[in-house]
Amino acid sequence: MKKSYSVFGLFFLIIVALVTIFLGFLFGLDNPVPWIVLASLAIIPYMHERNIRKEYIDWSAQYEVGVKLIDHDHQKLVGLLNQVVSAANFNMGESYVQSVIGELIDYTKYHFEREEGLMKESNYPDLEAHLDQHRQMIEQVETFAKKINERPNCEEDVCMEVYRYLKLWLINHITHTDKELGKYLQSQEQK
Ligand SMILES: [Fe+2]
Repeated sequence: MKKSYSVFGLFFLIIVALVTIFLGFLFGLDNPVPWIVLASLAIIPYMHERNIRKEYIDWSAQYEVGVKLIDHDHQKLVGLLNQVVSAANFNMGESYVQSVIGELIDYTKYHFEREEGLMKESNYPDLEAHLDQHRQMIEQVETFAKKINERPNCEEDVCMEVYRYLKLWLINHITHTDKELGKYLQSQEQK
């Protein structure tokens, strides 16, 4: 509902701006008011995109754990999370939202299985604690998926709630838990 109010508000502002431009030009092309309003209208999409870009996660070396397979999966997850931000902010439609969230959940599970495989193969001593974090994350993501099913098309900012939770979780998990795992796997390779 909150979202439809903001869309309505933006629509209303655009109509007011267009009327102001039209009336302003009736007073002559040298009237500065319609030009100022016109310039403001042109800036809106740029500002909107800039605000959305601030939400994106920019992949950088600080997130690398030093294991090719894990880094590849993490980059893919970050890409999917950024798509959730786009879906939430560009009104991309219900089916797109559902497919991005679905892919994010499936890829998270797939990635966890791959990571767990590496931990088991290498007899990782912190396996159980790490698995526990993965289990909790899957439970949380499935709760979000149900919520999104009830309010598709990212209504009431559900997508951004999911995104902010996952962003925090993933960055925290990568920079602490997975970095530890990365160090361990690299030390095993050197043996
Ligand atoms: Fe992990």
